[in-house]
Amino acid sequence: DKPVRVALLGCGVVGTQVARLLAEQADDLTARVGAPVELVGIAVRRLGLERDADLPAELFTTDAEALVAREDVDVVVEVIGGIEPARTLILRALEHGASVVTANKALLAEDGATLFAAAESARRDLYYEAAVAGAIPILRPLRESLAGDKVTRVLGIVNGTTNFILDKMDSSGAGFTEALEEAQALGYAEADPTADVEGFDAAAKAAILASLAFHTRVTAGDVYREGIAEVTASDVASAREMGSVVKLLAICSLVEGPDGPAVSARVHPAMIPLSHPLASVRGAYNAVFVESEAAGQLMFYGPGAGGAPTASAVLGDLVTVSRNRLGDVRGAGESAYADLPILQMGST
Ligand code: HSE
Repeated sequence: DKPVRVALLGCGVVGTQVARLLAEQADDLTARVGAPVELVGIAVRRLGLERDADLPAELFTTDAEALVAREDVDVVVEVIGGIEPARTLILRALEHGASVVTANKALLAEDGATLFAAAESARRDLYYEAAVAGAIPILRPLRESLAGDKVTRVLGIVNGTTNFILDKMDSSGAGFTEALEEAQALGYAEADPTADVEGFDAAAKAAILASLAFHTRVTAGDVYREGIAEVTASDVASAREMGSVVKLLAICSLVEGPDGPAVSARVHPAMIPLSHPLASVRGAYNAVFVESEAAGQLMFYGPGAGGAPTASAVLGDLVTVSRNRLGDVRGAGESAYADLPILQMGST
C-alpha cells in the first residue's frame, strides 16, 4: 500500500515521543490506518542534539520551509509551539495540500481563525486534540460527539502545574513559593513559570474550549484571567475549613447578555465544594466538566501534560487524518458560525 507520509516539525519533549510511538507502533498503525504511516522528515532548530541519536540522522533538517513544501508529504505534525514560525509553516503545509495535526494551543487561541480559514480553502483536515488537556480526549467530544446537543458550560482544571501547586498547598500547608519550587524541581513548572502561574496557559485552553463548545470565536485575549500567585496558605486552609478546596478553574459559559445569548470565558482561582467531582483532581492531573442540555453532566479526566500523554493525542489525530486522506474525505470541520458577543465577567 502507498504509505501516508508524515513530516514532523519540532523534536522536543512531545516530538520525540511522537517519533518513538510512530516507530514502536508501526504495525498497529498500519493496520488501523490501512496503510503504513511513514515519518519522512523532522525539522529542528539545530542539528546534533543528543536525543537525535535514537532516530535516523538523515530524517533531520533545519529547513522546515522546504520540508512542508515537499510534494510527497501527506500530513504535517506541528509540535514546535509558539506563534511563529509555527503559523507560517502550518499555512504553507495546507497550501501545499497536506493535512495538519498540531498541539499548538497558543497559536490556536490567538489566531485559530486564520488556520481554520486556510484549512477550509485548502479542503484539508486540521486537528488539534493535543492542544488542550494533553491526553484527555475533550476537543473531539465537543466537536463531534456533542455536535447534536447544546453545550451550556465547560468547567475545567486545564493546567497541571497550578493544580499540583494548589494541591500541595492543600495537603501539606505549604505556601505558594514553596509549592512552586517543588513543582519546578519535579519538572512540572517551567523555569519561568509565568504562563502557568498567571493563568495564560489556562486562558489559551479556555479560548479553544469556548470556541468549540459554543461554535463561536473566542481568543485568549477575550478570556478574563487571574492566576494563583496571590493565593496564600491561609486562603487554602480557610477553604478547607469550609469544606472546599481552591482550584484554578477555566469557566466557559453560555449566558444571557444584554442583546441575547453571549459567551463568558474566565480563568481564576475558585473555591469548590469537596463534594464536586473536580475537587478530587489531584496533583498535575486535569479534568474538564461539561454541561449540556440533553446529555447533562460529563467529566473527562486524565494527564494534561507530558511528552507521552500529549503524543498519544497527536497520534490519535494522525490516525484520523491519515484515514481521511486514504478515504479522500475531510473530518469534522471547524463549526464556528454563532459569532456570539463575549461578556467580560470577573471572578465574582
Ligand atoms: N504547562 C502546562 C500544564 C502543560 O502545566 O498543564 C501543558 O499545556
